[in-house]
Amino acid sequence: MVQWQIMIDPDRYIPTANLLSNRVILVTGASSGIGRVVAKTFAAHGATVILLARSVKKLETLYDEIEQAGYPTPAIYPFNLATATPNDYQDLRQNIETHFGRLDGLLHNAAMLGALTPLEHYALEQWYQVLQVNLNSAFLLTQATLPLLKLSSDASIVFTSANEGKQGKAYWGAYGVSKFGIEGLMQILADELETNTTIRVNSINPVRMRTSLRASAYPAENTATLPLAETLLPRYLYLMGPDSQGVQGQSL
Ligand SMILES: NC(=O)c1ccc[n+]([C@@H]2O[C@H](COP(=O)([O-])OP(=O)(O)OC[C@H]3O[C@@H](n4cnc5c(N)ncnc54)[C@H](OP(=O)(O)O)[C@@H]3O)[C@@H](O)[C@H]2O)c1
Repeated sequence: MVQWQIMIDPDRYIPTANLLSNRVILVTGASSGIGRVVAKTFAAHGATVILLARSVKKLETLYDEIEQAGYPTPAIYPFNLATATPNDYQDLRQNIETHFGRLDGLLHNAAMLGALTPLEHYALEQWYQVLQVNLNSAFLLTQATLPLLKLSSDASIVFTSANEGKQGKAYWGAYGVSKFGIEGLMQILADELETNTTIRVNSINPVRMRTSLRASAYPAENTATLPLAETLLPRYLYLMGPDSQGVQGQSL
């Protein structure tokens, strides 16, 4: 696979105010944590965001904030990645097509932690659920929305990886395996779409951020020492906007 050279340092990227204007971007896990901050920032830079998660209340609160700020009117899409069927993904694709006609960006951000426990004792039902939410859903959503992404003149798909998916670590179980899988999914898709499409495919590793997922994994940690999700915004904006054209198969 050809790895394209990144020409700039994404952490120093300075986006223009209207970087994402006229783009329609779907963000999973938009109700809290990193996804919430990133989705609102995409809207602040002109994108029409489709906010997907389970919590209707949290999605509505974010919807109101985006509307009150005068950003493009978003859409909310309550959806449970643990239980959704392939038909539900086709309904989602159909809804986006009906309302927007295409998709310019897809951020796979939703995830659950599951248990931190030895593989020997990992509960089977939870294993399947974590892999469904963190990995299988990203495949299903990508497959369902690819026809809409192909209608965009400049589409970007961003996956979310993690340190636990780069090097195997004891007790990270299904979460760690799902993140190894996400990195592989990203690379395979990037290679497949490198020719004959304008779709770029990359991933971002947030490493350690002050969110509820991190707090569940490290309950004794002093959260005040952790960076806020806002510190990641230059990377997300860079990969979602036109300045990353030609960047393919990279893990930032
Ligand atoms: N925080 C870190 O330090 C860190 C480090 C490395 C990687 N990451 C990755 O960054 C991403 C965001 O994590 P975060 O820390 O922001 O986590 P978070 O605050 O726990 O947010 C997770 C999001 O995923 C959604 N979600 C969970 N289960 C879902 C389901 N079944 N269906 C639909 N949506 C679901 C949640 O919404 P609902 O509850 O409303 O459904 C929520 O919006 C994840 O992929 C995570 O693995 C985070």
